[in-house]
Amino acid sequence: SRSINLAVIPGDGIGQEVVAEGLKVLSAVLPQDVKLETKDYDFGAKRYHATGETLTDTDLAELKRHDAILLGAIGDPSVPSGVLERGFLLKLRFAFDHHVNLRPSKLLPGVATPLAGQPAIDFVVVREGTEGPYTGNGGTIRKGTPHEVATEVSVNTAFGVERVVRDAFARAQARPRKKLTLVHKNNVLTFAGHLWTNVFTKVAEEYPEVTTDYIHVDAATIYLVTDPARFDVIVTDNLFGDIITDLAAAVSGGIGVAASGNINPSGEFPSMFEPVHGSAPDIAGQGKADPSATVLSVALLLRHLGHDAEAARIEEAVSADLAQRGALPARSTSEIGDALAARVAG
Ligand code: IPM
Ligand code: MN
Repeated sequence: SRSINLAVIPGDGIGQEVVAEGLKVLSAVLPQDVKLETKDYDFGAKRYHATGETLTDTDLAELKRHDAILLGAIGDPSVPSGVLERGFLLKLRFAFDHHVNLRPSKLLPGVATPLAGQPAIDFVVVREGTEGPYTGNGGTIRKGTPHEVATEVSVNTAFGVERVVRDAFARAQARPRKKLTLVHKNNVLTFAGHLWTNVFTKVAEEYPEVTTDYIHVDAATIYLVTDPARFDVIVTDNLFGDIITDLAAAVSGGIGVAASGNINPSGEFPSMFEPVHGSAPDIAGQGKADPSATVLSVALLLRHLGHDAEAARIEEAVSADLAQRGALPARSTSEIGDALAARVAG
């Protein structure tokens, strides 16, 4: 469409700094006739301390009116663990039915990896985003006693598994290698694991061109380090996806370049794009954060909204910038943003 109505949530810590650069690059890449309208929202630790609120129904109704959401990072040591995670981030992902959590990993030329010999890494993880152990379905009894029992039940529905598996097959079909790997733990999680495996096998019949593979999640962590080139598209549950995408980021350039999209494919709700990294309070306000992950998340946002050419320009700019980084003195967050904005505009 010829206009983008964007909700912007800078959040906490370095979120503020990296989002500013993401918006700088977004403004620079858009053609004159695409009108960008942004509205800032102050969710995060400050608002929580001031009002006790994390995300209200009124907030959700307001956010819903936008085409997409750009998020920096939410989280601060002054807020107890879990309050903003559950009360803001997961609440938003669940309320807006962001069931496809898309996390690409691509090792770009000249980017350092801890792996031996610069393997070709170019895969995308389709992490389920609304089910699994993240649903908050659990409880504690005999709390504080030596006999305390805590449960955290993983919820997997045929509907939820099938829609994310279908999305992953469609993405695999659209890529040159056409390969899809299911990552789970069906040798132990014989209820959820069998549901995933059965759905995967059934949907595979509709995609005869897609090569399929199954790997247990523990073995997948080995292959992500010893043979990451074997992966093209991975589909997995919410918690396994959380863990393997941090590992994937670590081997393909680090958390400074890992982008993600929380996608509602039907478009009923706005999708949300965010760097995989957190608010990094230890380096906040110092201009030290790498805005590349946010800028690459902006590229995912543009592709989601159908601005493919602009998305590709951003990805090329980040790739070119990273390729010559070793030859340059260290730059600040805004200097990197300026360089990327100049590249996409030129
Ligand atoms: C992520 C984060 C979140 C998650 C936390 C902050 C709730 O680790 O986006 O990967 O576990 O999904
Ligand atoms: Mn995570």
